[in-house]
Amino acid sequence: MNERRSVIVTGGASGIGKACVDGLVADGWAVTIADRNPEGEAQAAAIRAAGGAAQFVATDVSRDEDVRTLVKAATDAYGQLHAAINCAGIVGVSKPLHEITPEEYDRIIAINLRGMFLCLRHQIAAMLPYKDGAIVAVSSAAALKGLPWSSDYCSSKAGIDGLVRGAAMDYAEHNLRINAILPGATITPMAMSSTNANPALAKTRTRPMERMADPSEIAAAAIFLVGKGGSFVTGISMPVDGGMVIA
Ligand SMILES: NC(=O)c1ccc[n+]([C@@H]2O[C@H](COP(=O)([O-])OP(=O)(O)OC[C@H]3O[C@@H](n4cnc5c(N)ncnc54)[C@H](O)[C@@H]3O)[C@@H](O)[C@H]2O)c1
Repeated sequence: MNERRSVIVTGGASGIGKACVDGLVADGWAVTIADRNPEGEAQAAAIRAAGGAAQFVATDVSRDEDVRTLVKAATDAYGQLHAAINCAGIVGVSKPLHEITPEEYDRIIAINLRGMFLCLRHQIAAMLPYKDGAIVAVSSAAALKGLPWSSDYCSSKAGIDGLVRGAAMDYAEHNLRINAILPGATITPMAMSSTNANPALAKTRTRPMERMADPSEIAAAAIFLVGKGGSFVTGISMPVDGGMVIA
């Protein structure tokens, strides 16, 4: 069996997920990058060319069959799945609640919340026989804050925190740890597009540290939680937000 520990990163082709991939590769993990963005293919090839272990699996996390295939690809390639950092997600439609259509609401829930459920479902099933696993679900400070024109996004992320607490209870005795991190505003393509669509948001999100995070600062917390340092931590929703939720 491969000696490297094996990890899946969903949304690994961009932003926070990409920073997680870079940090995990530097720490010697074998990484399965899952994204619907095919740029992950070249990213994985570059990691292999530099001596690391990585593969790309084209995945839409809102499709159960895609996620099943993803987890099988990780265990086929690297023998076992030890960890996952689930970053794949989208922003909302940037409207007040009464203007959001049911179809628009269903779409964000399908990706951010139901997609997280599908990832947990298949990742946990793969880890359970070994009684060895750690998963980080990337939620958001928006799970705890009221943000303008963001009720769709806030509710999708608050749901993730509930999912994580329930799953942590179900599998703690099997030595599977499941935690959420709640990033504050982080410099990624997603954050930049949401600022353009929702200028009121920009005012709320740089307080109190008066800056946005670099994606590597969010990745460091996620990697801590799936690693040895997090060995007695489960069921938490950890803000990594420069104090945003207390401001
Ligand atoms: N950037 C921020 O300020 C911020 C703050 C809090 C939480 N977050 C959360 O962090 C996570 C990563 O966001 P980011 O800022 O790095 O965004 P990003 O847009 O840079 O990256 C998101 C990645 O997810 C992928 N993705 C989207 N839908 C997918 C799907 N259905 N299946 C598979 N892949 C899919 C995209 O292709 C992209 O590569 C998201 O869950 C986001 O909600 C971001």
